[in-house]
Amino acid sequence: MCGLACAEPTHGPPTNGSDLNTTPSTLIESFGRRVRLGMVGGGLDSVIGDTHRVALRADGLCELVAGAMSIDPEVARSTGRADLMDPERVHLDYSDMARAEANRQDGIDAVIIATPPNTHLAVAEEFLSQGIDVICEKPLVKDLDEADLLVAAVEKSGQTLVLTHCYTGYPMVREARAIVEDGLLGPIRLVEAQFAGGDPGVAREPNDSATRHWRFRPDVVGPSAILGEVGSHAHNIVNYVTGLSVTDVSAQMDTIAARRDVYDNAYLNVRFDSGAIGRIWSSYVAIGNEHGLSFTIIGDDASISWRQEQPESLRVAPIDGPAHYRTRGMDGSSKDALESARFRPGHPEGYAMAFANLYRDYATARMLTGVGLGDEAQRVLDRLPSVSDGRHVMSLIAAADASRAANGKWTPLR
Ligand code: NAI
Repeated sequence: MCGLACAEPTHGPPTNGSDLNTTPSTLIESFGRRVRLGMVGGGLDSVIGDTHRVALRADGLCELVAGAMSIDPEVARSTGRADLMDPERVHLDYSDMARAEANRQDGIDAVIIATPPNTHLAVAEEFLSQGIDVICEKPLVKDLDEADLLVAAVEKSGQTLVLTHCYTGYPMVREARAIVEDGLLGPIRLVEAQFAGGDPGVAREPNDSATRHWRFRPDVVGPSAILGEVGSHAHNIVNYVTGLSVTDVSAQMDTIAARRDVYDNAYLNVRFDSGAIGRIWSSYVAIGNEHGLSFTIIGDDASISWRQEQPESLRVAPIDGPAHYRTRGMDGSSKDALESARFRPGHPEGYAMAFANLYRDYATARMLTGVGLGDEAQRVLDRLPSVSDGRHVMSLIAAADASRAANGKWTPLR
């Protein structure tokens, strides 16, 4: 089994790259098949599984052919049946699945890991060791020690790991990144990001604590799980857009909801490697917020702001002129933003298509590698969150935990 690192084309490669039109529809013809995916977790009993199934199929570049999709054997089977999956490729144990897929001629190119975070490391190591790429849900793993182990496992395997920080797939988030790269903001001074929701599912504890979701169980993912569950998205998106890395953090974390045993509100003050300063707010008790992910980046010359609930537009406000909105799909947008859009301007794409962009990019890179265009594949992979991005979040969380325990003392990231 071979992942991106040693991808073989099913059809012969063109004699040189220049005669290959690399739009998805022609790329799939050149590659000669869809990219084959398997899934661990993400069963019909899960929150996120269906989103992955919609996203991976959006462009017709991927197919889901194997799975060990639930801890519950009957749900694992029924999820496979609902997908008309070959029963031979529906497994009850992910280790069996990794071995079986590695031994098939038509085995999977990559496995999607959509299980709780405390299981990601073991699943990822199993598939990487079989030469299979990994598309892993965030947060990367349970803690920083596990992150170091996974970074080492990816390096050793030579495979690719894509981390599904899905909001980086939005065209206007990619446009924001291009604006920063072009220097339109000038030196960045202030960075604000928040993922602060408050719907009843997260704002209230169930009456019976035995029915708590693992997100709210300190024994499963620790008392600071909010930083991995939502804080990781807020941190990752500003890291993605600005290219800046947090170096130090001062954390205040509280538990607001009655009968709750984990933190449900976190204010992180942060310093970046460039000297910029910022704040990352994570909350489950921001009552009235439906979703709550947004960012504002402020430079010497201009600022940009974006909200997940209105993802088609990006506010750009120069210091010496009127603020305006850039909108998805318009001429003059960056290459990355245009390549991430499908429909004409004015036809909203939204969350599912943003998520689908991660699959489109992974599959495109897999196919480009397969037809001998590794450099172009790398350009596409570079806009996807990676294992090192996942490790960076885990180092922020470790430092935030230490800071909280020391009454908010400024604490460096390891
Ligand atoms: P969940 O608890 O609803 O579902 C977990 C799934 O994994 C279930 O199907 C369960 O049966 C299965 N599972 C657990 N252990 C397993 C094992 N050993 N083998 C096979 N299957 C196993 O969890 P949820 O909310 O779907 O979250 C899963 C992951 O996705 C987490 O890392 C979470 O942070 C992430 N997530 C990401 C989102 C995003 O916006 N990108 C949104 C929601 C969740």
